[in-house]
Amino acid sequence: MRKSKTRCIGILTSGGDCPGLNAAIRGVAKAAITGYGMQVIGILDGFRGLIESRTIPLDDRAVSGILTYGGTILGTSRDKPHKMPMGGRVMDMTATAVENARHLGMDCLVCLGGGGTQKNALHLREAGLNILTLPKTIDNDVAGTDVSFGFDTAMNTATEAVDRLHSTATSHNRLIVCEVMGHNAGWLALGAGLAGGADVILIPEIPYELAAVAEHLFERRRSGKRFSIICVAEGALSDKEAKAARKEAEKAKKHGKGLKPKDAAVEVPGRGGDYDEDRLVLVQEPMASRLARELQRLTGTEARLTSLGHVQRGGSPTPTDRMLCTRLGTKAAELLAEGVYNVMVAVRGEQCVPVPLEKIAGKKKTVPLDHPWIAAARLVGTCLGDRL
Ligand code: F6P
Repeated sequence: MRKSKTRCIGILTSGGDCPGLNAAIRGVAKAAITGYGMQVIGILDGFRGLIESRTIPLDDRAVSGILTYGGTILGTSRDKPHKMPMGGRVMDMTATAVENARHLGMDCLVCLGGGGTQKNALHLREAGLNILTLPKTIDNDVAGTDVSFGFDTAMNTATEAVDRLHSTATSHNRLIVCEVMGHNAGWLALGAGLAGGADVILIPEIPYELAAVAEHLFERRRSGKRFSIICVAEGALSDKEAKAARKEAEKAKKHGKGLKPKDAAVEVPGRGGDYDEDRLVLVQEPMASRLARELQRLTGTEARLTSLGHVQRGGSPTPTDRMLCTRLGTKAAELLAEGVYNVMVAVRGEQCVPVPLEKIAGKKKTVPLDHPWIAAARLVGTCLGDRL
């Protein structure tokens, strides 16, 4: 057994689930227990479980056999310690979270989550807890890391869907719009679209011009291609929508409201967390359905919509994600043993490295416009919705 400065840790999973959470829990816990003799406490249902002191002991047996399972054995929630719905009221439960962690004897709280989780973890750090985090999200938008776990599996799932849509689209001579997750970042749509050979890929980072998309689809038809697949991120906006959204965001900012810039009228309560921290989401007819309808009208070609939804968050992690989770988890245990706290374990090239939590919390990693995936998509003739 190696020496360890940390004797007891708590682990929680927070935000939307994704494949690889169990592999990461296992990686941290096995290395912490067998490598360094730490005690490991599993906290149920994210930050809510910490506030309600709902825990389970995580010994070697409890984390054995979970490497390949989807979801999280600990359960998750999007609840934030400082804005916790409690009996019909939203309360700041930060002090309770800190008190409970101390009462349970934790030297450090390990939080597995996406962007929202990193923010909540920093909040608890500022309230006095030692924290260590791992980057998780199918959206791949956690700042400070090359990649987040869960992304590879979701990209595989979405790519398989794009593959399957090809055969039915060609049989029927149709346009098929395939909507994938990603409110703010287009990594998943771009990755699955590129890997699956989508003809059009629309992402939030590049506002699309409807007419440019329609022209591209016409051109394909003229050249004898019977079908087209349009892979679209759920947060993609047309140039007009993007302009209106910017205006609305400015207006909201002026009036001191942090409203998410969506151009519609129905408020969806209870959303929030990793993809839309601290904001309200306003929706109207789902964007992808509007897009399919408009493209059918403009091209005269029959269009269908497939929304992949939560299918992308399910299933067993790919070997790449299992490896990533095991590397990140074991590195986390190594850092904990050295007494390194208040960092996120990030992927940088071949290495897993600690990055200060305050440097990445509250930031998002969107697709840079000069990213090689964008260049490659353009070079193979994929329409990205703009005119270059
Ligand atoms: O975890 C992020 C994310 O996958 C987004 O891309 C998606 O819109 C969201 O989760 C949906 O999550 P839920 O339905 O759990 O709120």
